[in-house]
Amino acid sequence: DLPSDLRETLALPGLKDGWIDRNIFHDPRIYDLELERIFKRCWLFLAHTSQLSDPGSYITTLMGRDNVIVVRDQDGQIRAYLNTCPHRGNLLVRPDRGSSNSFICPYHRWTFSLDGKLINMHEKEAFERSPGFDASQLGLRPVAQVATYKGLVFGTLDEEAPSLDEYFGGFTFLLDALLDNDPGGTEFLPGSVRSIIHCNWKEGPLNFVCDALHAQPTHVSGSRAMLPRQVPRLGAPDAKSYQARVNGHGWEWSEEYPLGNAATLNAPSVMEYLRQRQKQFEQRLGLDRAKMVAALSSANAFPHASFLPGVNSIRVWQPMGPHRTLLQTFVLVNRNAPKEVKRAWRTGNQLTFNVTGTFEPDDVANWEGVNVSHNGPASRSHPLYGGLAMGTRTTHPGFPKDLNLEVSAGQISDENFRGYLQRYSELMLSPTWPRAENRRSAAQAHDQSSSEKEGR
Ligand code: FES
Ligand code: FE
Repeated sequence: DLPSDLRETLALPGLKDGWIDRNIFHDPRIYDLELERIFKRCWLFLAHTSQLSDPGSYITTLMGRDNVIVVRDQDGQIRAYLNTCPHRGNLLVRPDRGSSNSFICPYHRWTFSLDGKLINMHEKEAFERSPGFDASQLGLRPVAQVATYKGLVFGTLDEEAPSLDEYFGGFTFLLDALLDNDPGGTEFLPGSVRSIIHCNWKEGPLNFVCDALHAQPTHVSGSRAMLPRQVPRLGAPDAKSYQARVNGHGWEWSEEYPLGNAATLNAPSVMEYLRQRQKQFEQRLGLDRAKMVAALSSANAFPHASFLPGVNSIRVWQPMGPHRTLLQTFVLVNRNAPKEVKRAWRTGNQLTFNVTGTFEPDDVANWEGVNVSHNGPASRSHPLYGGLAMGTRTTHPGFPKDLNLEVSAGQISDENFRGYLQRYSELMLSPTWPRAENRRSAAQAHDQSSSEKEGR
């Protein structure tokens, strides 16, 4: 169903040897197909339940290029709708967040209840006299599936998508280090920061799913300014570090315990808070995941929600065109943390991974540089290299054996990068949701190519 040149690019034939065709970051046809096959199908991050604390509280956000409203209804249920009026299609709700008993379209005052029903409009009687008019057919269009995982709300526009549980697989085992290390759960601090980056939306996810390699060279000046010490050398032979992935989601982390790495914030109150709770983390999560609570690490939920444990930032990379990305940044904290600790986390975010911070502008300068060179047809004809540490599979000694996760040793590795792109390729080539057996066979194909390479 795709032109042959597109199908060949999207099959990423070089990936088995670590080569990536740059056109996936550039071609407008590929971008359009991503909106259909990634953003209209995958489970996408929408909100934190703390942003929807009471009946009527809502936020507006994006699912690909579709605007959506996420709201807690009168019965306490979280619902999501396309943010478009079924009358003439106006954008229904403009603010980023608010609280309301109903949604009123400013164009002709069609009014919708929180459960999406059309309940009123200007010149109501004229509509009611009009032959064929049926208000029950003119409610808000719901997002096909909405589900929460430990405070995070996700939605998919695809009725055929697997459940959120199946979509995440073993990734939730890792997510719990961030979302479930305290009995009070988590919340978002109020507000978020939005910024525009002139690059393809995949630069951020690919950096967060994998790229510990850049931490030292890119952030050397930021870390001199902000940290009590330099970013450690993560590739040292004795460094205990891992990458883990499943279904395109990935986490990479180094084990330094007790909690040395949380010092990325250089905030004594945060360090003290974490140190006091070390035993609690171990009891709730086990020692191995307790080591991940504030480790030097990063993660990405496919396709575009990234996590920075320790800094406690959640960042979502929204596609705004092949070469333009809207970055939304939120600060996640434990709900029961003392006020001064929450404040320190917010300040830590503002000083580091923020448009006003020391680290983010360095990342953005690199991604925008990448984008500049992808614009050149000669530059673009040369593939990129992502072959570091190919096929270095291992098992994590402390993780359950039957966990649905691929683990590799070493943070300095492109294993998660390739895992992300393999999943990307599979979804982009498949006109329908890939079935579980197809997913398995893609993974087997990848395994086979790794073993051939190693002569196993
Ligand atoms: Fe919304 Fe007419 S477009 S009421
Ligand atoms: Fe960075």
